[in-house]
Amino acid sequence: MGSKSPKSTNWIALNWIVFFVLVLCFVSFLENLSTTRLLSTEDYAKKSNPELLIINNTEVYHDGDLFPEDYNEMKKRFKIYIYPHERDEPFANTLLPVDYEPRGNYASEVYFNKVLPKSRFVTDDPNSADLFYLPFSIARLRSDPRIGVEGIHDFVRDYMWNVSNEYAYWNRTGGTDHFYVACHSIAQSAMEKASEVKLNSIQLVCTSSYFVSGYISHKDAGMPQIWPRDEEEPPNLLSSKRTRLAFFAGAINCGAREELVQVWENDTEILANRGRLKTPYGDEMLKSKFCLHVRGYGVNTARIGDAMYYGCVPVIIADYYDLPFADILDWSSFSVVVATRDIPLLKKILKSMIRSKEYQRLRDNMLRVRKHFQWHPSPIDYDAFHMALYELWLRRGHFRLRI
Ligand SMILES: *[C@@H]1O[C@H](CO)[C@@H](O)[C@H](O)[C@H]1NC(C)=O
Ligand SMILES: *[C@@H]1O[C@H](CO)[C@@H](O)[C@H](O)[C@H]1NC(C)=O
Ligand SMILES: *[C@@H]1O[C@H](CO)[C@@H](O)[C@H](O)[C@H]1NC(C)=O
Ligand SMILES: *[C@@H]1O[C@H](CO)[C@@H](O)[C@H](O)[C@H]1NC(C)=O
Repeated sequence: MGSKSPKSTNWIALNWIVFFVLVLCFVSFLENLSTTRLLSTEDYAKKSNPELLIINNTEVYHDGDLFPEDYNEMKKRFKIYIYPHERDEPFANTLLPVDYEPRGNYASEVYFNKVLPKSRFVTDDPNSADLFYLPFSIARLRSDPRIGVEGIHDFVRDYMWNVSNEYAYWNRTGGTDHFYVACHSIAQSAMEKASEVKLNSIQLVCTSSYFVSGYISHKDAGMPQIWPRDEEEPPNLLSSKRTRLAFFAGAINCGAREELVQVWENDTEILANRGRLKTPYGDEMLKSKFCLHVRGYGVNTARIGDAMYYGCVPVIIADYYDLPFADILDWSSFSVVVATRDIPLLKKILKSMIRSKEYQRLRDNMLRVRKHFQWHPSPIDYDAFHMALYELWLRRGHFRLRI
């Protein structure tokens, strides 16, 4: 009587199992219920386009395991203090976010300034800030008739004088926990009268070439020049027949471009054109397998971003240049870097990549990294804004000295 038969023990155990399964189902049902009800914009983005948030292709990153983990850490902890300005200040137009959608070549700096204040990364409490943002826009200073190209040096010097006298934060570190963002090439000399900014602060700039006197590699970081477009992608991005090997068109303002055109101008597989084309530039990129980005006066142009937008594998022909987001992205997985001395070998190099199927790999990866080269009015994960922030996160200081 007292001892149960093995059969009834099994029966009781089975009942318990069924009970637990039901409880678990109910709990997960409740959880689902609450997540569907409290869908954040981020979850929504994940649902409507799961690709957006998934970083499962580790090949395109230097460290594909560490990056998403550290990125999430950044989202939790990174705090930036923005030096505050009022609408009625005389130079508010060069310091405060614009109220229109940024356009054109220097959109990256205007976007950053516009999007940061709306993001989770801003703090009103300078004591909890990891970094301090100097919000002047070089592009807007340049086009302000009161300042102009000639007046930028003095403006920045005066601005820094004001900041270091009105606030205590600059002097604590000599500016090493401060940064500004600029995409206009004038930025390369804008800090001439504010040498501490150049030598100590983080310069997040599109002009990240070593031969530019203002840029200090490793301390500073490269950001892409991006021409914003209304559509996320061109309609025939994937279906376009890419019959041409490579494409370049642009002003011939430097030795490397001159050489490119001299060697390849009559080629049947490479189109190397002096100056603008009569046909739309985007159409030519859609027809080409590789799009050439050849240094001109500077190295940065919107061409790299344009090439990726049109699904064309970028070929970078420039020496001594920090590629945008180079601390995160492994450019060798989705682009080709060719030294300027190898211009005569270009066709051989590119053709061998097509034969060896390397082109397929580069192209697939390039389509995966496109999202890192797009700005959005409201930032979304892993877009150009978040990538720019991650470059800053990597450079945040861990110590402060009393000076
Ligand atoms: C991530 O993995 C999913 C499922 O395996 C796949 O469909 C998707 O293409 C991958 N995404 C990326 C960015 O590689
Ligand atoms: C510096 O502060 C003075 C006094 O408040 C102000 O008039 C001037 O416009 C400021 N200059 C800059 C460049 O911020
Ligand atoms: C920071 O240092 C500068 C130069 O030494 C000085 O003029 C300024 O008053 C200092 N700022 C503060 C807030 O103490
Ligand atoms: C290309 O063709 C033009 C016109 O025939 C000629 O003048 C030029 O020298 C050619 N260039 C090369 C690199 O062969």
